[in-house]
Amino acid sequence: MKYKAIIFDLDGVICHTDHYHYLAWKQLADKLGVYFDETINNRLRGVSRMESLEIILERLDGRVLTKEEKVELAEEKNERYKELLKKMSPQDLSQEVKDTLDFLRTQGLKLAIGSSSKNARLILSQIGLENFFDAISDGNNITMSKPHPEVFLKAAEYLGIEPKDCMVVEDAKAGIEAATVVGMDSGAIGDACGYQLATYDLPKFSSILCFA
Ligand code: BG6
Ligand code: MG
Repeated sequence: MKYKAIIFDLDGVICHTDHYHYLAWKQLADKLGVYFDETINNRLRGVSRMESLEIILERLDGRVLTKEEKVELAEEKNERYKELLKKMSPQDLSQEVKDTLDFLRTQGLKLAIGSSSKNARLILSQIGLENFFDAISDGNNITMSKPHPEVFLKAAEYLGIEPKDCMVVEDAKAGIEAATVVGMDSGAIGDACGYQLATYDLPKFSSILCFA
């Protein structure tokens, strides 16, 4: 294999929580009377909860919110989001993703999560992958979210693998940028597909097998 480890983003790569993020933000935006759509939602991919809120509030005309009000709004969104996550089960892990992960493991690759989400462990447990990965780096162990590379550097450190021997799989342009600045190759899937900074385009999850 070309790499010693693969670091996977979670939301929008391993499972489709990205849609639940959209629904929860949409409800909050509607309540605030702020325009929000899928295109704006794409800017939130890989970005922390508070930074995502700031992007949504760009369209809040005139009103200035205090730090406390913003924290409250972010918590409100997170409660809605966690309600949606309750609906998830191992059936939300596609056979393609599962088979690809299992095959990569048989090839001796280390597999890690590199996600900006503070809910990563909850999601992994909902889909039955709580004990699958060799390392989990998420929103709880970083101070700067993507495009800063901290989350991927921590994943590599937890695995004990050099960044140059890791490949990152991402649906966020911010995540591809994060991998690039620390010399990690990257595979772009979904919304990030076609991004020129990515090392590979992945038309589907199992396309990883052509490049790993
Ligand atoms: C990332 C998502 O995985 O996690 C972002 O792509 C999200 O859209 C971020 O804002 C933080 O998620 P959470 O679960 O901590 O609110
Ligand atoms: Mg993502």
